[in-house]
Amino acid sequence: MRVLSGVQATGKLHLGNYLGAMKQHIQLQDEHECFFFIANYHSLTTVQDAGLLQEYTRDVALDYLALGLDPQKCNLFRQTDVPEVTELAWILSTVTGKGLLERATSYKDKIAKGLSPSMGLFCYPTLMAADILIYRSDMVPVGKDQVQHIEMAQDMAGYFNGMVGREVLKKPEPKLNEAHVVPGVDGQKMSKSYGNTIDLFAPPKQTRKRIMSIKTDSTPVEAPKDPDRCNVFGLYKLLAEPDEVAELEEQYRRGGSGYGDAKKKLSEVVERVLGPARERREKLDADTGYVEDVLRTCGRKARAVASQVMADVREACGLSTAEDTHR
Ligand code: TRP
Repeated sequence: MRVLSGVQATGKLHLGNYLGAMKQHIQLQDEHECFFFIANYHSLTTVQDAGLLQEYTRDVALDYLALGLDPQKCNLFRQTDVPEVTELAWILSTVTGKGLLERATSYKDKIAKGLSPSMGLFCYPTLMAADILIYRSDMVPVGKDQVQHIEMAQDMAGYFNGMVGREVLKKPEPKLNEAHVVPGVDGQKMSKSYGNTIDLFAPPKQTRKRIMSIKTDSTPVEAPKDPDRCNVFGLYKLLAEPDEVAELEEQYRRGGSGYGDAKKKLSEVVERVLGPARERREKLDADTGYVEDVLRTCGRKARAVASQVMADVREACGLSTAEDTHR
C-alpha cells in the first residue's frame, strides 16, 4: 500500500504534533511504501518571510529524522521538489466547482481567525488533492480536521476521471490518526494557535519550566485527586509505560502527594522520550549537507512517480499525445 501525508512548515513542532501524527507516520514506514513531505507551497499561505520559510522547512525535516523517520525506508521530501503538483492542482481546479471549496470548514476557520482570504488559502484543498493524487496514494493518515480535505480529493479524482471517461486518478482513503487528546499547558487541545504548546526540542530546562506551568486545580496535597481531570496526567498517560501510568494513577487516587510531584514525573518521562532524539537532532543539524541530501534524493524518487502520473493525466485530457509522452 502507498501511504502519503504532508506536514506544513509553519514553526516549531510540539508534543501535540508528535503524539497526534508524527509518531504514527514513523510507525507506518515499517509496514508500507511511504511518502511524507513538507508542504512548503502550502506554508506560503501563512508564512511570508523567505528566511523563516527556509528555516521551518529544514526544522520539520530535522525533527522527523531525529524522531526516527528513516530515509532508507521511506521518502521524506519537499513539496516544491515536485513542482508538477501545482500543474495538477490547476487541472483539478478546472473540474472542481467553486461551491465545493466554499464548503471547506478549514478555510472558514482560518478566515474566522483573521487570516486574509487569499486565493491560495481558498484553493488550498485543490493543491492538497494534487499532492495526494499525483502519487496514486492509497492511504492518507491525517488528523480529524483534515478528513474533509481527503474527501474533496476523492471528489476531485472522480470529477477528473468522469471528464476523461476512465480511471486515471486513484481515489485515496483517509486513515484517522489515533485520536489522542493531547492537552496543552492550559488544558485546551495543544495547538500552536492557542500558544499552549510544549515544543519538542526546546532546551531541557525550558521544557521543564513549561511542564511546571501546566494548569492544575487547587485540590490540596493530602486529598485524593481525579487523574482523568488532570492535564498533567493526561500527558503522562500518552508518554509513560503502562505500569508507570498505573502507578501514578494510584498515587492520585490515594492522595498525599501534590501536582508538583506529578509534574516532576512527567518531566522525567518527556526527557526520556525526547532526550535521545534531541541528541540525534543536534548531530544531524551539525552535518550541514545531510538534510539537504535526504530531501533531494527522496524528492527525485517522488518526482519520478509523479512524472508518470502526470504524463497519463496530460494525455487523458488532451494536453499532450501518447507520442509526446514516449518521445
Ligand atoms: N493540510 C495538511 C495539514 O495542515 C498538510 C497537507 C498538505 C497534507 N498536503 C497534504 C496532508 C496532503 C495530507 C496529504 O495538516
